[in-house]
Amino acid sequence: MTIDEKIGKTLQELGVKDAAGVEELFKEVGAAMQQERLLVVERASAQGAEPLNLAKALRDRWLARKNGILTRIDENWLKPAPRELKAAVGKKFNSLRLSASSSHGLEVDEIIASVMIVRGAAPKLRLLSAEAELPSDLTLPGLRRSLGSIHPIIRVQREIEDIFLGLGFKIETGPEIESVYYNFDALNIPETHPARDDFDTIYIDSKTLLRTHTSPVQIHAMEKFVREGGQGGLYIITPGKCYRHDNPDATHSPMFHQVEGLAVDTDITFADLKGTLDYFAKKFFGEKTRTSFTPSFFPFTEPSGEVAVSCHVCDGRGCRTCKESGWIEVMGCGMVHPHVLKNGGIDPERYSGWAFGLGIDRFTMARYNINDIQLFFQGDVRFLEQF
Ligand code: PHE
Repeated sequence: MTIDEKIGKTLQELGVKDAAGVEELFKEVGAAMQQERLLVVERASAQGAEPLNLAKALRDRWLARKNGILTRIDENWLKPAPRELKAAVGKKFNSLRLSASSSHGLEVDEIIASVMIVRGAAPKLRLLSAEAELPSDLTLPGLRRSLGSIHPIIRVQREIEDIFLGLGFKIETGPEIESVYYNFDALNIPETHPARDDFDTIYIDSKTLLRTHTSPVQIHAMEKFVREGGQGGLYIITPGKCYRHDNPDATHSPMFHQVEGLAVDTDITFADLKGTLDYFAKKFFGEKTRTSFTPSFFPFTEPSGEVAVSCHVCDGRGCRTCKESGWIEVMGCGMVHPHVLKNGGIDPERYSGWAFGLGIDRFTMARYNINDIQLFFQGDVRFLEQF
């Protein structure tokens, strides 16, 4: 019976009844493995042979997870072995496995090394000729490994964080996998509200989704504020990843980044919102920057606005970057809707607040004059090493 036939049968079918029989059987397997190895080394050493393919085929024959000889021994001999033989079979099986991966076993590199020795060529890895490998002038500088750099989006995110940290805001984060409640309902967008259609949502199941904006963190933060006793005001920004079912193009990516800002206190007015965002725009885009607020609509703010900044390239005269308008739209904002305060557990009679949301990716594109959002996510070092 060949080895291949034997490993298809159980110990019982092979008539192996004791430890001595087990030993005999594994000896035979071990010998067969060595013999096949030698045969491969011999064949692979011939002119025109392909040592790599031969070595890999041998390794697969014995070690492939599916249907390799060792796997079949495990399944047909070890697993169904009678209890009194289990220990003996297990021990032998383990040492067979070890020798299969030892230096005279079935490792592809090791077989190739043997082939090289037979061919008369010293394998490079084993017998390094010190002289040949060392540069002749030891005082020459070595090879320099290039350092990585901070991704432009993270760089801009940190810049934005720094500005708001300087104003006393804290950084909060929330989950990217969010409940429909936090992403929509709590933000005053009930299931039947047409505004849900504005978000190209990626649902996980009917109650769970990848958040379409960072606004759900507003609710988490308000809940936490209330849990912690609600002392002082709530002043936070929340940077993070958002997801929408958008096809990738030069200005869209199904994954993108936002920063949300939220201020809730007993005496917040629209003037605070304007003042804060104008200060932020000047810090980020430069002191000459002017801001403009246009009425807009978001279900979670009332009133709502769209913020534009004077073009940082042409200073408002009109150019290609601002499409000749002199202005660049940079974020949505507004006074937190009383329903949203209530959903966060905060009394809208006593408290008021403002919020904004901006896209970090677009800010980064504006800052570095980048015309394709896809560049951020392709991992091309020729792009990334410019930052
Ligand atoms: N969440 C809005 C969006 O993603 C932006 C926004 C945030 C608007 C906060 C107003 C207030 O489009």
